[in-house]
Amino acid sequence: MASMEHWIGPRLALLSAHRLRHSENVAELTRALAETHGLSSEAAYWAGLAHDLAREWSRERLLAEARRLGLPVEEEERREPVLLHGPVAAAWMQEARVGNAAMWEAVRFHTTAAPGMGPLARALFVADGTEPGRGYPEAAALRRLAFEDLTAGYRAVLEETARYLARRGLRLHPRMQAAMAELGLAVDEPRADAYHGGRQDGRDANPRQSSGGG
Ligand SMILES: [Fe+2]
Ligand SMILES: [Fe+2]
Repeated sequence: MASMEHWIGPRLALLSAHRLRHSENVAELTRALAETHGLSSEAAYWAGLAHDLAREWSRERLLAEARRLGLPVEEEERREPVLLHGPVAAAWMQEARVGNAAMWEAVRFHTTAAPGMGPLARALFVADGTEPGRGYPEAAALRRLAFEDLTAGYRAVLEETARYLARRGLRLHPRMQAAMAELGLAVDEPRADAYHGGRQDGRDANPRQSSGGG
């Protein structure tokens, strides 16, 4: 993917050192999962590097960019524009014609997951939530599980995310609820008030993310 390499270089250069390190960790973990599970390791690596390219954009810029790109902006995204950073990065790749459909799907849904996601997207979702820099105690076991059985690992990371959001009284994004329902996971009624991206992007606010989120 030579064009991918050319395209992504200057964009990675705009990321903070912290975000770049996270993206490299995610790229390497996604690639390792792909190799174990018979997926394209190259696609996995580049999708991992690209997944947070828009993560450091402001709310205003994300909303404006989503409008420019013609992306759907629902109530959740208006309230928590950070939820748009995956869809925006995926749309950039499509616009530049770099990568492929599986990579775009993986980048688009890395924050919330989505029903019907293919194996590459599941691998990236797992890697984003469990890369070694995350630093919460369950991450290593979740990684191991995903190497043994990708679906089981994906399911466990979804559950872990839902538990985290529930502890904080935060609502799950409808896409995440649908992803959980697809796997037969119970979705608790949202408590009270504010919708929040939670680890749906708030992987940042997650204590398991001592080294920060995205
Ligand atoms: Fe992210
Ligand atoms: Fe991330």
